[in-house]
Amino acid sequence: MIPRIAFPVTILVADDLKENREMLAALLRNEGYRVILAEDGEEALELLATGPIDMALLDVMMPRRNGFDVCREIKGKLETRLLPVVLITGLNSTEDRVKGIECGADDFLSKPIKKEELVARVKSLLRIKQFTDELERAETVLFSLALSIEAKDPYTEGHCDRLSKYSVALGRRIGLPEDQIIALRRGGIIHDLGKIGVPEHILLKPGPLTADEWTVMKKHPEIGERICKPLRSFGLVLPIIRHHHEKMDGSGYPDGLKNGAIPLTARIVTIVDVYDALTTSRPYREALSLERAFEIIGEEVKRGWWDGDLMTEMQALIRETEARVTRAAVKAAHGVTSRGVSAGDTQAMAASGSTGR
Ligand SMILES: [Fe+2]
Repeated sequence: MIPRIAFPVTILVADDLKENREMLAALLRNEGYRVILAEDGEEALELLATGPIDMALLDVMMPRRNGFDVCREIKGKLETRLLPVVLITGLNSTEDRVKGIECGADDFLSKPIKKEELVARVKSLLRIKQFTDELERAETVLFSLALSIEAKDPYTEGHCDRLSKYSVALGRRIGLPEDQIIALRRGGIIHDLGKIGVPEHILLKPGPLTADEWTVMKKHPEIGERICKPLRSFGLVLPIIRHHHEKMDGSGYPDGLKNGAIPLTARIVTIVDVYDALTTSRPYREALSLERAFEIIGEEVKRGWWDGDLMTEMQALIRETEARVTRAAVKAAHGVTSRGVSAGDTQAMAASGSTGR
C-alpha cells in the first residue's frame, strides 16, 4: 500500500470493542472522513494491505496482534512507514506511551476519547502527511528521471534496480541502521542522476572519451547532488551521489577523498557498481564470471581503489545469493515452489551492464 492522501481521506480504526469502534467511526464520519473498521490487529494489517489508507487509529489492547505490534509492522515497512499511526491508550498510561514511542507511533489518544481532541489530532497528522506525500511524489519524479537516463543506454538496463537491491543487501549485512538502508535504496537508483547534465554524444559514446569529454562526464556527481539538495529527506543520499566515484587512494573524483573519509554508504554503492559493471555484458566484452569479476576487484583493492572489507562481504553475499538461487532451481525442477527467492535475486544473477563512468 502506498501512503497517499486520497479523496475522501480514509482512516482505519482498529478496536476489539464494538462500542468504541462505532463511536470513533461516527465522530470521524461526521467530519467527512471515510472510515474502515477492524476488530483486531490481524484484520487491521490485512486491510492496510488492500488499499490506500491515510491514517490508522489503533487500540493498544486487541486480540491476535495488539496495537504495538501493528504499529511496529506499519513503521517497519518501506511502503507504509510514513502512514500516521495514533495509538489509543488507557488514561495516563505512561508505560503504554513509552512503548508506543518505541514502536514509532506518531501520536496518542487517551480513553475516554474527547471529540475535540480526536478531530484536532487527526487534522494535524493529516497536514503533516500531506507534506510527506509531496516529498514522496518528488522522490518518484527523481527516480523516473534517473531511470529515463538509464533507459538511454540499452547496456545499462536494470542497472539502477540491481544496484539499489544489492547495496541494500550489503548495507543490511554489515548492520547499517535503517535510515542508511533507505539512503542506499534511494542512492542505488539515483546516484547517476547528474548524467542528465551530460550531453548525449558523450554519455552514449561507444569508444573511449577524450580528456575534455572526461572533464564533462566527471561533473555528474556534483550535478546530481545539486539537483537533490533541496529535498531535505534526501540528506543521507547526497554523500552517495557526490562520492560514488571516489577511490580509497584518493585518485577518484570529484573530491579525491581517501579511505574512511569516503562515506561508507558511497563505498558500498561503488563496490556494487564495480561488480555489476564486470558481471554484465558490454558492447566490447561479454559478462565476466563471478570468479573472474572478484579476481579483478581483488586486484583493484590491492591497487588501492576499493574497500577490501566491503569486497569480502560482497563476495559472501553474492555466493549466498547464488547458492539460494541454485537451491530454488533444484526445488523447482523437482516440482517444489521457489518461495524464499525474490525476483530481484534471479534478475540480479542474470545481470547486464554498467558503463563504469
Ligand atoms: Fe556515476
